[in-house]
Amino acid sequence: MFARRIAVVGAGYVGLTTAACLASLGHRVCCADVEVAKVERLRRGEVGILEPELPDLVTEGLAAGRLSFVVGARRAVGDAEVVFLCLPTPMGEDGSADLAAVESVIAETRELLPTGCVVVTKSTVPVGTAHRLAELLGRHDVAVVSNPEFLREGSAVTDFLNPDRVVVGSDAQDAAERVAALYARLGAPTVLTDAASAEMVKYAANCFLAMKLSYVNAVAELCERLGANVTDVTEGIGYDRRIGQAFLQPGPGWGGSCLPKDTAALARVAAAVGLDFPLLQATIDTNHHQRSRTVAKVRMAVGGSLAGARIGLLGLTFKAGTDDLRDSPALAVAGALAAEGAELTGHDPAVRVVSGPLTVVDDPYAVAKDADALVLLTEWPEFRALDWTMVAELLNGKVVIDTRNHLDPDVLSRAGLTWHGVGRPSVA
Ligand code: UGA
Repeated sequence: MFARRIAVVGAGYVGLTTAACLASLGHRVCCADVEVAKVERLRRGEVGILEPELPDLVTEGLAAGRLSFVVGARRAVGDAEVVFLCLPTPMGEDGSADLAAVESVIAETRELLPTGCVVVTKSTVPVGTAHRLAELLGRHDVAVVSNPEFLREGSAVTDFLNPDRVVVGSDAQDAAERVAALYARLGAPTVLTDAASAEMVKYAANCFLAMKLSYVNAVAELCERLGANVTDVTEGIGYDRRIGQAFLQPGPGWGGSCLPKDTAALARVAAAVGLDFPLLQATIDTNHHQRSRTVAKVRMAVGGSLAGARIGLLGLTFKAGTDDLRDSPALAVAGALAAEGAELTGHDPAVRVVSGPLTVVDDPYAVAKDADALVLLTEWPEFRALDWTMVAELLNGKVVIDTRNHLDPDVLSRAGLTWHGVGRPSVA
């Protein structure tokens, strides 16, 4: 394998994972970020985000001399053969992706890029961005390639090193092949395509995943009305290989920094080209409905009004295994509960403070103390292992709303608690 000289611009969760994993594959990687303090921490091997295996890979890369960190993109690109752009593309007010960070790095580095180097967009960018960046670059000797990432927070390193597929798109075939070759050791199926199609793959994948979840959440609601059990229903449909068991867990609605942003962006793009895409809109609307439905369940559990009710929340992050609170369904539900007058206390193994209408405490039992109801919002494994008899003694209202079907209803029932799940009959 050819070891390449690679620059990664942006040391966020995608950039840092990309840099550390490419270094572990034998490439020489220089990773740039604008934040001086972050770069200093990374040089000491301090990763700063909760991501399994990443600290070890960073330390190994630093020790082997294959991974380095610099302040500012200009310092990273001078001798790079491949430049990965791993920059934030936040959602603008109208739902479109904001490309300011990507464009400013292009403006800053365009004259420094060596002849023959390849610029790769790794962040999720609107279809057409590769073409736009090529125009901004204005360099016939530098190709632009789209190579979307499919990492999940909490398993980013495993996902990077064991990908289901590698997607590389460019209108310059040789540049696409050079980028694909970086991953050759991983032995994953590789889709070589044009730039617009590669960009589209990322949106189509995330929107499909969101649609799968909204479908499951809608089926869960139907199961509640009809007395069926969604856990058995999803197991039953998941054995069909055309459907698959993955991504079939109902919950309080999907969130995080990707699915909400990407569904909104694709809906907007469809509207902008005059295409009606009701399936995607229904996916988004169903998600809002699921959050409201979760709030309604808590309201019902405390007797019909949340005004003055004391509610304990278990889990605040958008899913377990991460400390990320961005677009967390747990916080959306918390906000809605507070808006109806509930007093909230929350606990999350990865969160110490939250700006919002709740008090965060270090002890999960303190959340239960004197509460009128306990609501599990994130599926941290440690919540299953709580002493539920003790929780029952501390709780005022003996009721738990398990928005992820994460707890064992029989254990709670034996402790004297009523368990309300999602898409399943309640257990008293
Ligand atoms: C998502 C995609 O899964 C990745 O493939 C993609 O690379 C990434 O976005 C991205 O675009 O960067 P991530 O945001 O880390 O990854 O989170 P997921 O694991 O997909 O979870 C998203 C939401 O769906 C969470 O709120 C989670 O709790 C929820 N979820 C997931 C369920 O409610 N049920 C499930 O069965 C799975």
